[in-house]
Amino acid sequence: IRPGFSDGWLYFSDILFQTVGNIIYNYVHIHNFNGGMIMKTIFSGIQPSGTITIGNYIGAMQQFVELQHDYNCYFCIVDQHAITVPQDPEQLRQNIRSLAALYLAVGIDPDKATLFIQSEVPAHAQAGWILQCISYIGELERMTQFKDKSAGKEAVSAGLLTYPPLMAADILLYNADLVPVGEDQKQHIELTRDLAERFNRKYKNIFTIPDIQLPKVGARIMSLQDPSKKMSKSDPNKRAYISLLDEPKQIEKKIKSAVTDSEGSVRYDKENKPGVSNLLSIYSIFSGKTIEELEREYEGIGYGQFKKDLAEVVIDKLKPIQEKYNELIDSQELDEILDRGREKANAVASETLKKMEDAIGLGRKR
Ligand code: AQP
Repeated sequence: IRPGFSDGWLYFSDILFQTVGNIIYNYVHIHNFNGGMIMKTIFSGIQPSGTITIGNYIGAMQQFVELQHDYNCYFCIVDQHAITVPQDPEQLRQNIRSLAALYLAVGIDPDKATLFIQSEVPAHAQAGWILQCISYIGELERMTQFKDKSAGKEAVSAGLLTYPPLMAADILLYNADLVPVGEDQKQHIELTRDLAERFNRKYKNIFTIPDIQLPKVGARIMSLQDPSKKMSKSDPNKRAYISLLDEPKQIEKKIKSAVTDSEGSVRYDKENKPGVSNLLSIYSIFSGKTIEELEREYEGIGYGQFKKDLAEVVIDKLKPIQEKYNELIDSQELDEILDRGREKANAVASETLKKMEDAIGLGRKR
């Protein structure tokens, strides 16, 4: 009897320790303690709708790298958003992997931040549906991005209209306190706040109301070919943007052909000289020099030299990113990081989804 009893007790205490250990582990990871302090949470996503541009990098990614040290960060490859406009399946797969490698190549540390793919965490689409059901068509039709992307198109997907509630779900599932994005996403974050407040009021107070965080400079990098439009990775005119994977020769050519003006002086004046001002912003961000310093440096020197030097600065900035990218793109390490990210994101997101379903009365009581 005694050996049996002690075996049983050992087995029981083993399970008890494991369970308590798991609870503590999950609690610490989900609630994110850092040196005894609870860290605030950040969520942000990028669409794999092409290769990311220096606009996406300056407006979004560069901030992510800094913020990951002080926040509990979730960085997402929002592939379900990308299919709101037609995508080639093969290309989309490649873009997803490429974006994951780029997140890491620019400096996202997978031990600090959670990197994952949206479609691998089903709670996003499920929570997105619930939030669609509390959104009004009128408010979705007012979104500038919907108007821009649907303008002049014969057929527009319903997904393009309902993109913002899915984006709200992305953010709210993680109870994000802060969303670092470029200026073009401001309206979507405002809608996210409205939807969260609406849900909290109508059903149950479960969502954190997130704040937007815009970069101090470079919140909107403009197209090189039409400086009245923002730089976009899906612009059909490839000369309009510089992608993080462009080769030095392409970068030189694109900057050389960037639209400027006939004045010939390197001066920041967003209204009257939008092309040169945009180039000055990029130069300043990538070189660390202020706009005033650059204006002084190029006084009396024409656009030719200015553009040549800017191309060099951009090439030098992208070189180490491209080297790291090449090491990662075909690696097993990349898959392992994405697998770990999926597990962590799933644990947090499904917990919030359960609360949403309970609050709204879906399914059976659990
Ligand atoms: N031109 C830009 N300047 C500064 N920030 C920008 N962002 C996008 N363009 C600029 C920021 O990059 C993040 C990721 O954007 P996204 O991929 O989710 O969607 P988007 O804003 O629609 O970006 P694109 O490049 O224009 O994609 P497509 O061409 O697919 O529509 C966001 O934080 C965004 O603010």
